[in-house]
Amino acid sequence: MKDHLIIFDTTLRDGEQSPGASMTRDEKVRIAKVLERMRVDVIEAGFPAASQGDFEAVQAVAAAIKDSTVCGLARALDKDIDRAGEALRLANSSRIHTFIATSPLHMKLKLNLEPEQVIEYAVRAVKRARQYTDNVEFSPEDAGRSEEDFLCRILEAVIDAGATTLNIPDTVGYSMPQQFGATIANLRRRIPNADKAVFSVHCHNDLGLAVANSLAAVMNGARQVECTINGLGERAGNASLEEVVMAVRTRRDFFSCDTRLDTREIVACSKLVSAITGFPVQPNKAIVGANAFAHESGIHQDGVLKNRETYEIMRAEDVGWSTNRMVLGKHSGRNAFKSRMVELGVAFDSEAELNDAFYRFKQLADKKHDIFDEDLQALISERGCESEIERIKLVSLKVCSETGETPNAAVTIRVEGRELTGRARGGGVVDASLKAIESLLNTEATLALYSVNNITTGTDAQGEVTVRLEKGGRMVNGSGADTDIVIASAKAYINAVNKLLSPELKKHPQKVEV
Ligand code: KIV
Ligand code: ZN
Repeated sequence: MKDHLIIFDTTLRDGEQSPGASMTRDEKVRIAKVLERMRVDVIEAGFPAASQGDFEAVQAVAAAIKDSTVCGLARALDKDIDRAGEALRLANSSRIHTFIATSPLHMKLKLNLEPEQVIEYAVRAVKRARQYTDNVEFSPEDAGRSEEDFLCRILEAVIDAGATTLNIPDTVGYSMPQQFGATIANLRRRIPNADKAVFSVHCHNDLGLAVANSLAAVMNGARQVECTINGLGERAGNASLEEVVMAVRTRRDFFSCDTRLDTREIVACSKLVSAITGFPVQPNKAIVGANAFAHESGIHQDGVLKNRETYEIMRAEDVGWSTNRMVLGKHSGRNAFKSRMVELGVAFDSEAELNDAFYRFKQLADKKHDIFDEDLQALISERGCESEIERIKLVSLKVCSETGETPNAAVTIRVEGRELTGRARGGGVVDASLKAIESLLNTEATLALYSVNNITTGTDAQGEVTVRLEKGGRMVNGSGADTDIVIASAKAYINAVNKLLSPELKKHPQKVEV
């Protein structure tokens, strides 16, 4: 009988701390539902004290999720713990995750506290959190650079105060696998009451070692891993959920634990997170990259055709790649559309919403013969982005490109009911279109990123465009999908501008000082 390895997903909290990856409340609920369907044990939904927006998002996730534990992050401060407790009130199963820094550097320069005071804060926070739930996690932030003796003292104290999970974060991604594994083993051996809590790890990827460090910890007795979909997260990101889960599953011979995850949901979840955050997945990314199961060289192809095990250690369908099949087309009816959407975890709040989605599906089916699950996801992502924060809408776009001529574009947008048309010339039709939009909106934002990905294969595939805009220290990602990448680009640009203007996202700082 193998031990259970708890998967704690923090895409909605640490993942959201990636520059430009802010998510709205409804987007968080959509991702949380897919995580729940994937059977993730704990979903960290946000940092309720960070902003009203984050509070409401945690509250909404707590109300929507039944089969996973919903967690809220809190500094070791009464007001943060109370806010987290309140946000989680409706959860079926809740956890409060409280933290305080323990490295000499952080305690002195960031907190300006003596080590004894840090222990007092930690114990007080855990006791307060226990008034809201008996599921309390404590993290000594920057544990990777903390002194082991001090970690032993503070962790022993918080277990006595009621912490049930001890999470050891390598906050700045400094640790080496062997060293980090040894730290976990030492802590478990040296802390007298260690058997009363689950050891967890939370590794950042600054040196590309987040997954290796997490797995080294698991080898040394950690039984919870904190991770994110696509490895999203602060700076270089967190350990990627799909890599940790598939390493443990594929190397059952090596690990004495396993997760309860339904790995067939991984690819859909990865695509959803990518579409919502506007962070594309690199093609050679393990497990979820478009090339992860593609065999290009003749020798490999020949081997795989003879026996797939020659070059494949996992089956593509076991992580959900087989869902890339045609599900609907031009002649599909409303019921078929609705039931496929339900299977994809999309719920319609009203008949009007279903009708609107079905209308847009038919429009897409007129342009594209085969409609895949990924197309349906993009259709819904786009609508989700638009409906919550939409002030500006694309009405029409006309572009002209001819060999030897400067491309030009004419774009009409609707701004709070008023139609405006602008024209511009540019280096290409995309450039001209975005300049035409900018001539109407004068956002003066800097274009920090522009990228195009095909959602499925074939020249009639939808292109998904990501645009990142930066203005006054704020960064937002917009995305848009269409079979015409110029239109997708215009939609993505407008989506990003809508986010820049959104009061909800304005009040939603991507980072809180701790
Ligand atoms: O990286 C970190 O230390 C964190 C903590 C809040 C766990 O994200
Ligand atoms: Zn972190």
